[in-house]
Amino acid sequence: MNISSSEKITESVTWLGKWTFVLAAAGSAVGLGNIWGFTYRVGEGGGSAFVLIYLGCILVVGLPIMMAEIMIGRYAQHSPVSAMKKAALDSGKTGYWQAVGWTGLVSGILILSFYSVLAGMCIKYIGIAAMATPAIVSDVQFDQVTGAPLTLFFWHSIFIGLTVAIIASGVIGGIERMVRLLMPMLFILMVVMVVNAMIYGDFKAGLNYLFTPDFSKVNSSTFLSAMGQAFFSLSLGMGSIMCYGSYMRKSENIFKTSLTVAGLDTLIAILAGLAIFPMIFAYNMNPAEGPGLVFISLLSIFSEMGLVGNFIGPAFFTLLSIAALSSAISLLEPSVAYFEENKIVSRLTAAVILGLIIWVIGIGSVFSFNIWEKMEFIGKRTFMDSIIFLTFDILMPLGGMLVAIFAGWFFKPKLAMDELSAAHVNIFTTWRFFIKFVSPVLVAAVFMSQLFPDLPDQSKDFFITLIGLFR
Ligand code: TRP
Repeated sequence: MNISSSEKITESVTWLGKWTFVLAAAGSAVGLGNIWGFTYRVGEGGGSAFVLIYLGCILVVGLPIMMAEIMIGRYAQHSPVSAMKKAALDSGKTGYWQAVGWTGLVSGILILSFYSVLAGMCIKYIGIAAMATPAIVSDVQFDQVTGAPLTLFFWHSIFIGLTVAIIASGVIGGIERMVRLLMPMLFILMVVMVVNAMIYGDFKAGLNYLFTPDFSKVNSSTFLSAMGQAFFSLSLGMGSIMCYGSYMRKSENIFKTSLTVAGLDTLIAILAGLAIFPMIFAYNMNPAEGPGLVFISLLSIFSEMGLVGNFIGPAFFTLLSIAALSSAISLLEPSVAYFEENKIVSRLTAAVILGLIIWVIGIGSVFSFNIWEKMEFIGKRTFMDSIIFLTFDILMPLGGMLVAIFAGWFFKPKLAMDELSAAHVNIFTTWRFFIKFVSPVLVAAVFMSQLFPDLPDQSKDFFITLIGLFR
């Protein structure tokens, strides 16, 4: 592979709009993770204490790694595989660092395979919520949808088709155009949902739940859950952000844009909480319901709301589908960009072939809800849970940790400083401290505890002491 920079500079694509990077990266970050994952984890983690810990994770681990990914991508102006290689070679290190890029491509493909099935379910729920009457029983409804492989398969196919179509249309004609359309829609729908919660929900209870810290419910698994969530929510550890960063203009300030993206992602997650919890409390549902919070509890609320629910419900599931779509394209782009830049096949062919592969793997997740419900793959997990385990628990933390280690210890400081040039020197020094010593250690801790689940018990004492300090 020849990646001499002179050859590439003329070819590399740059976002047209000044705000496109922010929109695209926020589009990637804001997804099912924010609206569905964040809220059910807040519920399980005891509300506000989880939110505080989550904010800490975003700042201490998320932000430095996001800056590192953008830096490497923009420095190299290549898709993640070649970007890691170029950044390493130019720092006088081995080109094998490209393995980090490959890990990213594989996890992107695997994540998209199940993400698409869940997103397809969200699209299906737009229609269900529009027709819902107070008579429907939402868990029966949920069992009906998940028990029908053909339905899941149909909507999974539609969703992958949309994702492939956008990516095939190019970075500017596809991604840039879509995020400029989708992100404002997403924001407006979110505001509509929050206003709805103000009118029909118990807003005060929701606010209390999200913002009055109660550390008695915190344990070591809260930290792990918050950290994993922060990572997934910011789309880190697999090259999505690195790839989008490679299309960013040199004149843009990496620190400010990262802060904006992380801020928007967090804002949307909190707005999602404000849209959902007041309703949950007003209708006496359990906030700690778990993954069924959105598909079961909320649907039952929308159906009890009558006619208003028939408008608000579909709006909510449209919001979820849009958020999922703008994330899905960022999962496919790194691998398509790799094929395109190395002229292996055209963008269109790459998008279609990779889309087909993802679509086929996704069928395993479709079956995980029904035909293969009892079949075990890794450990006692269904097929879909195994893919989630592989990506969420192994590949992503591994990728993020390696990016942090590379950026902190191997990437030439001078190159990093040049990329951060628009920022204050203190920002560079602070960033370097975090990326060298803090982020990799914390990610490694999460990683270890996921691989060896008994470990948290031993480290519990440490966390309990730590929490004691803040009480
Ligand atoms: N961040 C998205 C969400 O919150 C999911 C996502 C998109 C993602 N691209 C990613 C997660 C890359 C990890 C890595 O739903």
